[in-house]
Amino acid sequence: MHVLSTLAVLGAASVQSAQALPSLFQQPSVDSWIKTQLPLAWKGILCNIGPDGCNVKGQGVAPGLVIASPSRSDPDYFYTWTRDAALTFKTIVDDFIFGNKALQPYIEGYIHSQAKLQTVSNPSGSLLPNGHGLGEPKYHADGSRYNGNWGRPQRDGPPLRAVALITYSNYLISKGQSARVKTEIWPVIANDLSYVGQYWNSSGFDLWEEVSGSSFFTTQNQYRSLVEGATLAKTLGLSCPSCSVAPQVLCFLQSYWNGKFFTANFITGTHNRGGVDANTILGAIASFDPYVPCDSPSLQPCHPRSLANFKNFVDTFRDPALYPINQGNVKSQGIALGRYPEDFYYNGNPWYLIVHGAAEFLYDAIAAWKQQGSITIDSTSLPFFKDLYPLARTGTFGRLHPAFYILQGVVKSYADSFVAVSQKYTPKDGTQAEQFVKTAPFAPISAANLTWSYASFVGMKHRRDGHLPPKSWVPKGLTLPKTCERTTVQGVYVPATAAGAPNVTIPCISTIRLQLNASTYYGENLYVTGNSPTLGNWDLDVAYPLMSSNYTAERPLWYADLPLEMPEGVTTLKYKYARQQDCGQDWIVEEEERTLEVPQCRKDGSEVVQLETDEAFRGPGGKSGGC
Ligand SMILES: *[C@@H]1O[C@H](CO)[C@@H](O)[C@H](O)[C@H]1NC(C)=O
Ligand SMILES: *[C@@H]1O[C@H](CO)[C@@H](O)[C@H](O)[C@H]1NC(C)=O
Ligand SMILES: *[C@@H]1O[C@H](CO)[C@@H](O)[C@H](O)[C@H]1NC(C)=O
Ligand SMILES: *[C@@H]1O[C@H](CO)[C@@H](O)[C@H](O)[C@H]1NC(C)=O
Ligand SMILES: *[C@@H]1O[C@H](CO)[C@@H](O)[C@H](O)[C@H]1NC(C)=O
Repeated sequence: MHVLSTLAVLGAASVQSAQALPSLFQQPSVDSWIKTQLPLAWKGILCNIGPDGCNVKGQGVAPGLVIASPSRSDPDYFYTWTRDAALTFKTIVDDFIFGNKALQPYIEGYIHSQAKLQTVSNPSGSLLPNGHGLGEPKYHADGSRYNGNWGRPQRDGPPLRAVALITYSNYLISKGQSARVKTEIWPVIANDLSYVGQYWNSSGFDLWEEVSGSSFFTTQNQYRSLVEGATLAKTLGLSCPSCSVAPQVLCFLQSYWNGKFFTANFITGTHNRGGVDANTILGAIASFDPYVPCDSPSLQPCHPRSLANFKNFVDTFRDPALYPINQGNVKSQGIALGRYPEDFYYNGNPWYLIVHGAAEFLYDAIAAWKQQGSITIDSTSLPFFKDLYPLARTGTFGRLHPAFYILQGVVKSYADSFVAVSQKYTPKDGTQAEQFVKTAPFAPISAANLTWSYASFVGMKHRRDGHLPPKSWVPKGLTLPKTCERTTVQGVYVPATAAGAPNVTIPCISTIRLQLNASTYYGENLYVTGNSPTLGNWDLDVAYPLMSSNYTAERPLWYADLPLEMPEGVTTLKYKYARQQDCGQDWIVEEEERTLEVPQCRKDGSEVVQLETDEAFRGPGGKSGGC
C-alpha cells in the first residue's frame, strides 16, 4: 500500500479519518531513519557475538555465544541468556534465508555453542537424566555455569532455541542437506523439545525473570516449537513423542484470555500485577504465520483477541501519570511502551524492543490480511480499528471493498508511528540501550548496546518490508481439544555429540534439602560453599545459591534442593554458609566448618529428597551498604 492510493481512498471516505494523516506524512523520515539505522543495528548485533565481535573480542566469550550487552556494571549483562540468544539467532537465520549468506558462519557457531551449553550442569540441574539443566536462563560468557541467585528455571529458552534451529534446518533440507540436519542439528533440537513436552505444565519464571508461574509468551512459544518439531521429525523420518502434547499446550494458551485482554501471567504466590504485559505482544510476533486465517487458535497478531489485547496494552501506557513521555498523545499514534505498568526496574521505563515489537505486530497483521485477501472486524476487534478509523464497523472486507485498503493504510501508518517513537529517542549515533527514561529528557538508560534491542529492530524491518516466513507452521484446519489435559511426556536427553557436545554421562546424585534460618535485608543473598563440585569446591565465586521464596517474618528460611555430586570416594560433605553483601562489600562466611554424611547417590533421576537439614546461620548478620 503506497501513500497516494491510501490518501485517495481516505479522501473519498471521510474527513474524520484525517487524524490518521500526519503519520502518513512522517513516513519518508521513518524510511530514511530505517535506512541509516539498519547497518548500525547489524553492527550492534554482530559486535556482541563471540569470540571476535567488536564489543567482546579478547574477553573470553565462547565462539557462537551472544552476550546480552557489553555492559559490565549497572547493570552487568555480560552473560549469555538462552532466550535473548535464541531470539537474536532467529532473526539472523531469517536474514540469512532472505539472502544474507555472510551470516552462515555465525549460525554454525551458534549450533555448536548451544550443543555444548546443553550439557553444562548448573543450578537448575543437569542435562542427564531429566533435562532440568535446559531450564537455566543464563551462563557466563565463556559458557560456564552461573551460580548467582536468579529467577530459575525459565522455560522459554528451549522452545525459542528449537524454533531458531528448526528454521535453519528447514532451509538446509530445502537445499538437500537432510542428512546433516538429522545427525547434527536434530539432536540439539530433540533435547529442547523433550524439555518442552515434559515441563510445559510446570511453573517457571517469565521472560522478565521476575514472577514464577505460567507465562503467555512461554506457552505460545512452547506450542510453536512442538508443532514445528513434529513436522521436522516427520520430514526426517524420525519421531517426536514429546511433540504429541501440542494440542494440550494450545488448549492451555486459550485460557489466558480474560474476556478483555490476555492475562500475561498466572502467578504463583502474592503479587501486585494486573496482567497487562508486553509478553503477550512478543509471543504473537514470535509465533507469526501469515498463511492461516486470523481466527486461528494459534493466536496470530491479526486475531480479534490479539488486536483487542494490543489496544488494551498500548492504552495502558497512554496515561501521562504513568508515562510522562506520552503526554498529549492521540489514539491513532504510536507511543513509548514498557514491559508492564507495575514495572519498577530502573523505575519502569519504555524499552526499545517493545516499541519495535509493537510495530512488528501491526506489520504482521497487515501481511496476514494481504495473504487472506480480507479483513474481518468483529465486536472484539472493533475498538482497535475505531481508534485508527472512526468509521470502522463490523464485517468482512475483501479485495473489492475500499475498507480493505483503507484499514491497511491506517494500520501501516500506526505501525510506522511506533517506529518514529524509536527513532525519536535513539541517539544520533544509532546506539540502542535497553530502555529510555520515561521523564524528560528521555535519555537512554540501563544496559548499553542491548543485543535484543538491535535484533528487534531488524525483525521489525523484515516485516515492514514484507519479508515473510517461507512456509506455514500452524497445522491446517486447527481445532481445540474439548477439554484441556495436563498430559506430559517423559523426555529423552542425549548429549548432541555430533554438533560438538561433550559425551557427558548421568551424574550420581544425592538429593539434599538444606534449610537455613538467616535473617537478611533486601539485596543480601545466601550461598553454600563446600567440598563438592556442586558447591563450587570452596570457590565462593561459584558457590551454590540458596532460595528465599519461602522466607517469612515468622521463619527467615533460605533453602536449596541440592542435586549433590561428591568427588569419587568422598562421603562426608564439608560446608559453610556465606552471606553475600550488597554494594560490593565483603562476604560474611561462617568460621566453623559443618559436616554431613551424604546418603548413597543415585543415577535414576529420582528427585525425592533423601535428607533434610534444619540449621541456623552462625555468625554476624549483614548490613546494607546503602548504595
Ligand atoms: C556500543 O557499541 C559500539 C559498536 O557498535 C561501540 O563503539 C560502543 O563503544 C559501545 N558502547 C558501549 C557503552 O558499550
Ligand atoms: C497445567 O495445565 C492445566 C490445564 O490446561 C492448567 O489449568 C494449569 O494452569 C497448568 N499449569 C501450569 C503450571 O502450566
Ligand atoms: C557416549 O557415552 C555413552 C555411555 O558411556 C556411550 O554409550 C555412547 O556410545 C557414547 N557416545 C559417543 C558419541 O561417544
Ligand atoms: C516452600 O513452599 C512451598 C509451597 O508452600 C512448599 O511446597 C515447599 O515444600 C516449601 N519448601 C521448603 C524448602 O520449605
Ligand atoms: C528455624 O526456625 C523455625 C521456625 O521458627 C524453628 O522451628 C527452628 O527450630 C529453627 N531452626 C534452628 C536450627 O534454629
